[in-house]
Amino acid sequence: MPATRLLPHQQEHEHPPVEPATLRRVCGLFATGVTVITTGVGGPPAGTTVNSFTSVSLEPPLVLFCLHHKSRLQAELRASRAFAVNVLAQPQQEVARAFAGRKTADFETVPHRRAELGLPVLTEAMAHLVCRVVDQYPGGDHSIVLGKVVATSALAPRPDPLVFFDGAMGAAPPE
Ligand SMILES: Cc1cc2nc3c(=O)[nH]c(=O)nc-3n(C[C@H](O)[C@H](O)[C@H](O)COP(=O)(O)O)c2cc1C
Repeated sequence: MPATRLLPHQQEHEHPPVEPATLRRVCGLFATGVTVITTGVGGPPAGTTVNSFTSVSLEPPLVLFCLHHKSRLQAELRASRAFAVNVLAQPQQEVARAFAGRKTADFETVPHRRAELGLPVLTEAMAHLVCRVVDQYPGGDHSIVLGKVVATSALAPRPDPLVFFDGAMGAAPPE
């Protein structure tokens, strides 16, 4: 009996699985900024470092970020139903590391204030977006958090951004 040849669309399921480490490395070639998502309305401030932030819509003003389903911020977010995106400036690399640990960083060591909706924001971040949670969608081992932007602010003069590229944080390459 002649061997049956599969058409390309029938071979889809035969692709070997993409390893998490490979996916992390390849996605890391997409350069991003670095943010700290803060929350904790009416309670102690909490935050975690995130580079999955992106803008979604201008009218209405919507943004999103992806949060690991085991993140300590999940419970805080459910309680507050609001979050702030703190866009980090280049000198804030230590802040990014401090908020990327299993415990939330000690806010006493990071300049912050309460902004709109009672959300904590990091004073030295180059920009803030204060958001109400609109919805949260499942996305594998993360959830996709969609927020409506209710207020923004930006430092002037604008500092240089903190950039995450190829697994490392640093300054944007000079032109
Ligand atoms: C540059 C950078 C970007 C990160 N981006 C994300 C992200 O988009 N979503 C996420 O859930 N964790 C992200 N993390 C990991 C969290 O910051 C870290 O796992 C977390 O703070 C550990 O505690 P938690 O998981 O309880 O929040 C990132 C870490 C770094 C250093």
